[in-house]
Amino acid sequence: MSLEDKVQKIQESFGALKALGRDPTSLEFDRVTSPTEAELNGKKMILLGTNNYLGLTFDESCVAAAKGAIDQYGTGTTGSRIANGTYGLHKQLEQRVADFYGKRSAMVYSTGYTANLGSISALAQSGDQLLIDADSHASIYDACRMSDAEVIRFRHNDPDNLAKKLERLQDRPGDKIVVTEGIYSMLGDSAPLKEIVAVKKEYGAYLMVDEAHSLGVMGAKGRGLCEQDDVEADCDFIVGTFSKSIGTVGGFCVSDHPGLDALRSISRPYMFTASLPPAVIAAAQQSFDQIDANPQLRDRLWRNARILFDGLEALGFKLGPEVSPVVAIMLPGKEVAVRFWNALMVAGVYTNIAIPPSTPNALSLLRSSISAAHTRDQIATALDVFAQVGADLDLIPANKADRRRLAEAQGPLRIVTGGNMQAKPVQAPVQEEQRSSAAKG
Ligand SMILES: Cc1ncc(COP(=O)(O)O)c(C=O)c1O
Repeated sequence: MSLEDKVQKIQESFGALKALGRDPTSLEFDRVTSPTEAELNGKKMILLGTNNYLGLTFDESCVAAAKGAIDQYGTGTTGSRIANGTYGLHKQLEQRVADFYGKRSAMVYSTGYTANLGSISALAQSGDQLLIDADSHASIYDACRMSDAEVIRFRHNDPDNLAKKLERLQDRPGDKIVVTEGIYSMLGDSAPLKEIVAVKKEYGAYLMVDEAHSLGVMGAKGRGLCEQDDVEADCDFIVGTFSKSIGTVGGFCVSDHPGLDALRSISRPYMFTASLPPAVIAAAQQSFDQIDANPQLRDRLWRNARILFDGLEALGFKLGPEVSPVVAIMLPGKEVAVRFWNALMVAGVYTNIAIPPSTPNALSLLRSSISAAHTRDQIATALDVFAQVGADLDLIPANKADRRRLAEAQGPLRIVTGGNMQAKPVQAPVQEEQRSSAAKG
């Protein structure tokens, strides 16, 4: 196929969706004025799709630290970690991350994406087997492509299926490395880590958990799902990102394994890209201090998550299986998802749209992420907009009595996995058998 043909095919596949409104892949904010507000074409928007879980992007101490680092060290390192791009600052941040997790050592990467690429491809080599959850993030799938190990998928959040796959590998030589996430980014559901840990121990496998959406969000100290489920000692490698709750950019892998540092000389995404600029490092360090000092941020985050989830559920929307800071509305198709996303934006609410092939089970989703920085008023305003737009698009009943009936028919409230909330009865989750093997974006 010629380059022209390829370009035309891409344009055709996106053209129909773009014709329904704005292009979701090239939105430009005029100004972002706070963790929860921005201007788009001169219009004020409530930001409900930023992954800015703790609202730290505008935290005064983080901003001041970043400014101070620029004054002292300049705007960038202009080099990779293994050349001129390692400053004392990078080492300090690695120590800070290791101390935060109570682990022996940490490696800092330039993004969470490269942290997965670099850690997975370096740890899993020829003759090894990588066992990844079918709904893994694109960075985990891409890491598999980069690794020379054999790649085996197990059904999403299904420890029994993982056990079956490991059982079949029992007599095979090579390390078995299981990769899962904490909170999954599309539906906001979290991994059954205790059960996964039991399986990995039974079969002598290693476990890596990507806590991208759970760092700062779950656990008494904000260390994530491993902390919350009390399995930190059995989790061999934790990967994470600074681009969500930490409010800046960068990624890391942290571990008690004495060999972690050896990966610095074979991990290509660590070796062959520029290191994080000083301002980013300083801001990230401050964010960890804020997480330590302000556990109430997590309480506020989960309170807000509950308000948004309950509010959308009461309106009659079909949501993901758990209350979580990621709240996904399941929609009947791509086109309606694009229309919904556009209409919300016209009404002043920015969310994320997620459609196949970037979603598990080929779902079409309107994905919101809530922040500790959202006010009750902002959430109430957003819910009013969801109600109006949802009714306009015939997704939910227009009147309250019908909505109440629908919500009652949909069953009890779902489980709450984080924060200090009481657990609630679980509603039937998405059938794991039905999930597709599509990689997520
Ligand atoms: C589970 C998961 N891992 C890794 C990443 C990549 O993080 P970053 O944005 O820092 O590259 C993301 C980002 O969305 C993610 O959701």
